[in-house]
Amino acid sequence: MKLAIAGKGGSGKTSISGTMARLLARSGQRVLAIDGDSNPNLALTLGIPADQMGSMPTLPNDILLRTSDGAVLTQTLEEIKASHSVTGPDGVDLLVMAHPQHANTGCLCQMHATVRTIIDAVSNDARDVCILDTEASPEHLSRGTAIYADALLAVVEPYFKSLETGRRMAVLAQDLGLERVALIANKVRDEREEEAVRTFAAKHEIEFGGLVPFDDCFIAAERVSQAPLDHSPDAPAILAIDVIAQHWAGVRA
Ligand SMILES: Nc1ncnc2c1ncn2[C@@H]1O[C@H](COP(=O)(O)OP(=O)(O)OP(=O)(O)O)[C@@H](O)[C@H]1O
Ligand SMILES: [Mg+2]
Repeated sequence: MKLAIAGKGGSGKTSISGTMARLLARSGQRVLAIDGDSNPNLALTLGIPADQMGSMPTLPNDILLRTSDGAVLTQTLEEIKASHSVTGPDGVDLLVMAHPQHANTGCLCQMHATVRTIIDAVSNDARDVCILDTEASPEHLSRGTAIYADALLAVVEPYFKSLETGRRMAVLAQDLGLERVALIANKVRDEREEEAVRTFAAKHEIEFGGLVPFDDCFIAAERVSQAPLDHSPDAPAILAIDVIAQHWAGVRA
């Protein structure tokens, strides 16, 4: 299963992507996490120590060859992982999209194409899961970076601008041909907020893909630079993300 996680800035994409990746790896899946944010910070949520973040390898631009038929990787996925991934706790492999090191150095087109082709290269074996954490913009959809994902989960908070961003991303994902598109309600404080997301999803005929309650465990974990899963493994939000992860990875219906 290949999942792209999208949504408005700060909606909780990285918190959910990283925690899902860890939980799925714990339940026996082979997990490849891809940090597709040009301001990457998925590593911390995966439990990779903060002091390693400055020296993380990033994907190079020269492993993609443009051909008349499209683009091909010049290395196998295993070779790319061997030279450019970091393996974090629970065995999650992390690939980080190259991000700007200097100002005025141009666009990330080639990098988006590289990530797109890597996602295509991930096996469709039931034990393999690929989770793409995206940045807070429709770039991954407008550029087609997420085109080989099986599903797009748009993380939304229970307020209009966040819901509307999720809806726009859902429309683009459907346009891209993704088989399944759903809204994940995050930071939900009460039944009224849950109902607001469910009503919005129903009105726009978008699947309601799960709910994560508002939980101080995320902020508490960040305060001490820890992964939420390591800091508060039994917190309500972590348990809720587990339900979502198992469901969307097809492990548990
Ligand atoms: N369920 C939750 N309850 C409370 N706080 C949360 C929850 N989910 C995420 N947060 C907090 O919200 C903030 C944003 O989370 P996160 O970085 O995961 O969002 P993001 O969508 O990846 O952001 P960006 O758009 O910057 O990439 C963080 O401080 C995180 O700790
Ligand atoms: Mg993020």
